[in-house]
Order: sequence, then structure tokens, then C-alpha cells
Amino acid sequence: MSTAPEMDISLEQVRRSFGATRALRGVSLAVGRGEVYGLVGPDGAGKTTAIRLMAGLLRPDEGRVRMLGEDPAHPRTRVREGLGLVPQRNTLYGDLSVDENLHFFARLFGLSREDFTARRERLLDITRLGRFTGRRADALSGGMYKKLALACALLHRPRVLLLDEPTNGVDPVSRRELWELLYTLVHEGMTLVVSTPYMDEAARCHRVGLLYAGELIAEGGPRELARQHGVAASNFEAVFLALVERHTGGRAA
Ligand SMILES: Nc1ncnc2c1ncn2[C@@H]1O[C@H](COP(=O)(O)OP(=O)(O)OP(=O)(O)O)[C@@H](O)[C@H]1O
Ligand SMILES: [Mg+2]
Repeated sequence: MSTAPEMDISLEQVRRSFGATRALRGVSLAVGRGEVYGLVGPDGAGKTTAIRLMAGLLRPDEGRVRMLGEDPAHPRTRVREGLGLVPQRNTLYGDLSVDENLHFFARLFGLSREDFTARRERLLDITRLGRFTGRRADALSGGMYKKLALACALLHRPRVLLLDEPTNGVDPVSRRELWELLYTLVHEGMTLVVSTPYMDEAARCHRVGLLYAGELIAEGGPRELARQHGVAASNFEAVFLALVERHTGGRAA
């Protein structure tokens, strides 16, 4: 009998280009149930491309993507019902209120009225947006906006949540709050992939994959990676730079 943990997400030798730009150059990774996997890398590394492939919004040119055991880009798959996505760019309706955005996404996901009522209450509670239900999304602070996007992505109770730079442009206090919220979800059994350009956020993940120019140049627990490079886990930037240096043989810009 296999003792390998059940994998919710797997990418096998995935390649994806946009014209001449090779966004992913043969990336393989797997994320187990209940794991928090950080996709850490600088601008243009391929983080959004990887997340869009996982969400079934893109197909790989080569290689295989499996989410909860299925191809998320297959036209007849229902696996996307089990996935939640918080995209990198603003995807809420700015001139709709917090409540109206929640209603809109609930209709999109086909939630029943009773289910929505219960879900709305729970999500407003964990995001602490209850006092702001009438506020237009555009008028929310950066942190509150991200929390609303998260609440909208959680309405249909996904098992796997994909978050593309959820803390970008968010102040440190709200960033910490968002991470606390994410851990609440993990304790409830959710699997998370979080992309981030912030090296310090690597330490918050169970495991990180370091993406650089479309390649996964290292993968492992943040402490383990730091130890291998003789630096403190809190100084993940040094870990990343050492890995890039090793990968490029000093040719990195
Ligand atoms: N739709 C597209 N058309 C053309 N090029 C694209 C497209 N999507 C991504 N790319 C290119 O692929 C590469 C990887 O982009 P991607 O958005 O995946 O990176 P990223 O790590 O998410 O970067 P950022 O931190 O800036 O969001 C970049 O060079 C980008 O310009
Ligand atoms: Mg991106």
C-alpha cells in the first residue's frame, strides 16, 4: 500500500509559451491535501501562468496538469467547481458594494438562497467585512479589497484555493491578517497555492517552489532550503539569490 500523501495538484513537465516568450519551461510540482504551497519568484517568473494552468484557464503546450485527479482545462470537467481562484488583477465590480459583489458571485456559482445566506455570514465573519457590506468595492482599502476577492472565491466552498499575489500592495498589518485567515482555511482542510514576489512570505508556506525565468530552480520546506544555504529562514531573499546565482552560474542580471 502506498503511503504517499494524496496529491490535489500536479504539474508534470509543463511547458507554456506566449509567442517567443517561454513562460514555463518544463515545470513539475505536486501539492498534497492540506498543504500551503508557495510559488515564489520575481516579476515575469511564470507564477500567473502556472496558476492559470492550475485553474484550467490555460492549456499547457506540453506536459500534464491534474487538479483533484482531473484535467482542469477539459471542456466537460466539473473539477473547476472544486477550485477557487483569487486572480492577481482586480476582478471585482468596483461600483458594486461588498454585498452586491458577494451576491453576484453567488449567482455565478449557482448557490441556493439558503446556502448563500449561511455562506455570506460565515465569510463576512472570517474576513471581518461585516461592517462594510454597503461600501463600494472601489472604496475599500487594499487589504479589504483582497479579503473581499477571497470571500467571493470561497463562496462555493472550494477544496483547492489558488491565490495569485494575494498580499501584493497590502500593508504589513493586513498582510498578517490575510495570512491568519488563510491558515483558518487550511485548518478546515483546504489546499492552498499562493504566489508571491515577497521572499519573506516563503516562511509562511509549508513548502515553496522557487520560480525563476520559467523554471522551478528549487523546491522544499523554507527552513530546509535556508539551512542548505547557511542563512536564516527569515532571510529568504538571501536563499533565493544564492539559488539564482547557482542556477545561472553568476550570469543573472
Ligand atoms: N497572455 C500573454 N501574452 C504574452 N506574454 C505573456 C502572457 N502571459 C504571460 N506572458 C509572459 O510570460 C512570462 C511569464 O509571465 P507571468 O505573468 O506568468 O509571470 P509572473 O511571475 O506572474 O509575473 P508578475 O510577478 O509580474 O505577475 C512573462 O515574460 C510575461 O510577459
Ligand atoms: Mg503574475
